[in-house]
Amino acid sequence: MDAPLAALPTSPREKLRLAFTVNGEGRDLTVEPWKTLLEVLREDLLLTGTKHGCELGECGACAVILDGELSLSCLVAAVECQGREVVTVEGLRGGPDLHPLQAAFADHGAAQCGYCTPGMLVAAKWLLDRKPDASREEIAEALSGQLCRCTGYLQIYEAVEDAGRALRGEPAAGPRLPSTRRGGGDGA
Ligand code: FES
Ligand code: FES
Repeated sequence: MDAPLAALPTSPREKLRLAFTVNGEGRDLTVEPWKTLLEVLREDLLLTGTKHGCELGECGACAVILDGELSLSCLVAAVECQGREVVTVEGLRGGPDLHPLQAAFADHGAAQCGYCTPGMLVAAKWLLDRKPDASREEIAEALSGQLCRCTGYLQIYEAVEDAGRALRGEPAAGPRLPSTRRGGGDGA
């Protein structure tokens, strides 16, 4: 989507006024005009759950949902985000309980060093919001842009399958650790 012309800085030194929605909350701020969405999220809004990886669109660590589409925030200019809606990993939780994906990742050991985890969670949410009964193949396809150097992916796929079961109101298939049902972090 093109930014409205009125919002564009007229010189490289002029700051950009950026009004958009992040995790359901309207945000209106002034940022450096050359920044990416990733930089605005982390540096201006202090939403550090979205990770800074390759900056080349190759690792998936910076994934967010932008106007309903899975997007790599390192490749999106802040100026393109005027009036748009962003969901980051911090937006998964709607209250004290973990999102089913967060709980399943903890239960399955799907987060090891954790660097890929926010991007994985966001990509998996994007998938399960559309298809809570996604097959293993569909999960692997949806997460194919997210690189993980630690897990070998199996635990991640199993966690997403279990989260899908939870979202469908079905019992989990894998062993669960009772301490992960409430509280804890958001993958940041
Ligand atoms: S930091 Fe965006 S894809 Fe790697
Ligand atoms: S858990 Fe370390 S990169 Fe995925």
